[in-house]
Amino acid sequence: MEKFKVIAIDGPAGSGKSTTARLLAEKLHFTYLDTGAMYRCVTLVALDRKIDLQNVDEVGRLARTLEIDLIPDQELGNKVFANGQEVTTAIRTPLVDANVSLVSSYKEVREKMVALQRKFAEKGNVVAEGRDIATVVFPDADLKIYLIADIITRATRRCRQLEEMGLPCTIEEQMASLSSRDLLDSGRAISPLRKDPEAVEMDTSGLSIAEQIERVYQLAQKRLMLNNESII
Ligand code: DC
Repeated sequence: MEKFKVIAIDGPAGSGKSTTARLLAEKLHFTYLDTGAMYRCVTLVALDRKIDLQNVDEVGRLARTLEIDLIPDQELGNKVFANGQEVTTAIRTPLVDANVSLVSSYKEVREKMVALQRKFAEKGNVVAEGRDIATVVFPDADLKIYLIADIITRATRRCRQLEEMGLPCTIEEQMASLSSRDLLDSGRAISPLRKDPEAVEMDTSGLSIAEQIERVYQLAQKRLMLNNESII
């Protein structure tokens, strides 16, 4: 089987992963893979079906049977479908935010999502972003990047996204929500958020999007050229 290239981008919520991964993928003609969207899909459907989120078996069963499709989209990055129904914006609400860390902490859920993510990378070169991409999903990734940003920057970015969706938001609320997710995502037993020893760390707090992209693009060019191969 042909081995495609993988660029892994990890980091906490609001650190700039989605924008960076999406635009880097576009520049390199790679496919963008938003792994957080998959965990959000399971969470949204579990909430819709009023499944008890504390019930590992039920949530695990849902994850195993749910059909999740991510379709590359120029504007949105990935269009997201759960059992054939589009949920691209529905998975971004504060209710999903508040519950996705619990759902993504379950082994049964992670096994299914990791398998889906690896399948995605069998089809072509990818820029994948998430929490455990470099450490667990693609430990042999060609380039590993770990993004960070200060909490005010992260909360401001998240508020902007919510406001674009027409949802109300305060920076204080977002700071509390992000801090609580950070704690759960980095404190869980299975595949916690952490920087892989091989990852290049980048603080995006004071950077414009253009600067962010230029830095990761330079890194990608250097790394993929070093492997003596063309990146496009
Ligand atoms: O990147 P995001 O905010 O859309 O991710 C939503 C949640 O999904 C995040 O709080 C933790 C979880 N997640 C994960 O556990 N592993 C990943 N690879 C991606 C996301």
